Amino acid sequence: MLDKTACLIENRSSYKPPVCKIFNNKQVFISEDSSVKFKIHPEVRSLLPDLCNNLFLSFTDSTDGKEIDLSLRKKIGVVFSGGPAPGGHNVIAGLYDFAKKANPENRIYGFLNGPEGIIEGKYIEINDEIIDKYRNKGGFSMIKTGRTKIDTDEKIKKCLETCKNLNLDALIIVGGDDSNTNAAFLAQAFYYDKIQVIGVPKTIDGDIQIKDINGQVLCPISFGFHSAARAFSENIKNLQKDAASDVKYWHICKVMGRVASHLALEAGLQTQPNMVLIGEELADYVDESRLKNTEKGETDYTAYGMTLRHLSRLICDLIVKRASVGKNYGVLVIPEGLLEFINEIQTLIIKLNSIISDYNRTHDNDFHSDFPGLDLKLDFLRRMARRAPEENIISVWTLRDDDFFNDIPDFFKEGLLIERDSHGNFQFSQVETDRIIMELVKDYLNILKEKGIYRMGIEKEWFLKKIKEAGLDSDKYAAAIFENPLDEVFLLRKKNIISKKTLKQNLIDNGLISSTDSIPDVILDIFEQSRPKFKMQTHFYGYDGRGSDPSAFDSNYSYNLGVCSFYLVCGGCTGYMAAVRNLEKDFSSWIPAGIPIAPLMHLEERKGKLSLVIEKALVDLDSLSFLKFKNMRKDWMGIYPEEDRTREPEPDFLNYDKTHIPPMILFLKS
Ligand code: FBP
Repeated sequence: MLDKTACLIENRSSYKPPVCKIFNNKQVFISEDSSVKFKIHPEVRSLLPDLCNNLFLSFTDSTDGKEIDLSLRKKIGVVFSGGPAPGGHNVIAGLYDFAKKANPENRIYGFLNGPEGIIEGKYIEINDEIIDKYRNKGGFSMIKTGRTKIDTDEKIKKCLETCKNLNLDALIIVGGDDSNTNAAFLAQAFYYDKIQVIGVPKTIDGDIQIKDINGQVLCPISFGFHSAARAFSENIKNLQKDAASDVKYWHICKVMGRVASHLALEAGLQTQPNMVLIGEELADYVDESRLKNTEKGETDYTAYGMTLRHLSRLICDLIVKRASVGKNYGVLVIPEGLLEFINEIQTLIIKLNSIISDYNRTHDNDFHSDFPGLDLKLDFLRRMARRAPEENIISVWTLRDDDFFNDIPDFFKEGLLIERDSHGNFQFSQVETDRIIMELVKDYLNILKEKGIYRMGIEKEWFLKKIKEAGLDSDKYAAAIFENPLDEVFLLRKKNIISKKTLKQNLIDNGLISSTDSIPDVILDIFEQSRPKFKMQTHFYGYDGRGSDPSAFDSNYSYNLGVCSFYLVCGGCTGYMAAVRNLEKDFSSWIPAGIPIAPLMHLEERKGKLSLVIEKALVDLDSLSFLKFKNMRKDWMGIYPEEDRTREPEPDFLNYDKTHIPPMILFLKS
């Protein structure tokens, strides 16, 4: 029976998220907090001069701050930007509810299909009926979304025109790192027209995590992350059960997250699969043995970072060890953005990014229209590599790159050459990362089979029963076939037995049969049992989780972000990101805030040139959640005869008691 206060799925739209304490006050003040410090990039000072000195903002009931006047009539536009994330509708609901409560004359407009809607002036006015239909529901279907980047003066001008025509006081941009970057540039462009721009941290990737220079957490996570991770975890949990039931498949789960591996880490902590790869950790890998072998004073740069081949060896090692305890099945989680952290591949991605953007800058058609097929693209690259030595010029694409590139399978080449998105990002979701890795794994497993290393452990009890039924001597046969003594639960076939021929030779050498005898049927049976067949199923968890309904945590969080953005608008702020602090704690400790966006920017290569963007937060290898994961993962491998020690995520209900479970990466402290 469900708790009476828990909300059933059908009742989602009737659930009213609680709001942070301060938002229940009649009078709210906003105050600048100069103790929160940022390191401001010099480029920010020149490109965002009116925003670079914005300070961190808190809401307070102390009259020391500036009182927020909620009563003034406001017209506010809101837009979704980038991929959907569960909770987006609640951002609008929070904004709408509080705007209407403050002044029923307030108007909220939703721009359609993402930033394109602002440029084109396409919008709807949000009303009660629209809002009520989408409360606490997943997707962004209320006003849809898009990935258009507002990156030219022309586009900015059109946006300004639209906002002016609508007499907007403010524009709320609900988006990821790139969209919040856009928000800051629009805030600057609209500054003298007094149209405020506020960002809201959205992305299932969880890579908007903001700290000040002293490590104070200002925004622990973006909304949408928790719901997507939970949706992936549900699927992974089900696969774990299936795998342990029919004991014949390895399930390879690629989970979304364009670059950072936060989603893989969270889904891993939620379910405890046999292996979870974390891209950031692979980039950090140092091959100590290579370093030791280098001459004094020299550095072997290939020792830094992991290669795809090495990674495939690590996966094989787990598969082999599990097989040795009778488990020829398992669940492996691969983050979508893993290739970003494999040096050899990352170099290719950067080079191709720069070649493609250079081409697009200097030609009337873009690279992908001029070279539609793989062969044409390869031809172009080859010519480029050859031209360099002939004409004695330095080229980004060398003959070495070309050789390496041509060595990789076609589907992977196509993946690496795929069109970049409008922000110049590499589209990891379109690349079959799992297939690339697993092809290498399959190849190496065959080698290990040949070497007699990849073999199934034979359950001792089963062996003894079979041998007894056949009337054979268990001690003698065990000594001839197995490398470990009879007192272990699983027995391992000797490495030199890789075929019926080598099996027979072993039996002859041990004086159990003569060369003219055939192998006893029971021994053949045992041999067959010890030969593993590697079968895998691949799964991609991304768009499904991205479209899931928000978890209780995300419903509450995103609603409060919507309310917070309304307060920031009424407080006269621009170039700020709405935020809620203390998300890892009980709801009563949640504190809304305003984070200045300009100081969060740094220079990054985009479309072949350096641009100011908000820095993505990667998995911090020193964080407690990662260290805890590192500590536990050996056990998750399940290299023991007992059942794997997996974990089931707790049920999640919208709950009128205001209780919810935050993401594990936030609350895992000890
Ligand atoms: P946002 O950063 O816009 O929230 O999108 C994140 C994401 O869902 C990634 O996880 C994924 O790699 C990418 O979008 C997929 O992009 P697309 O929707 O263009 O296929």
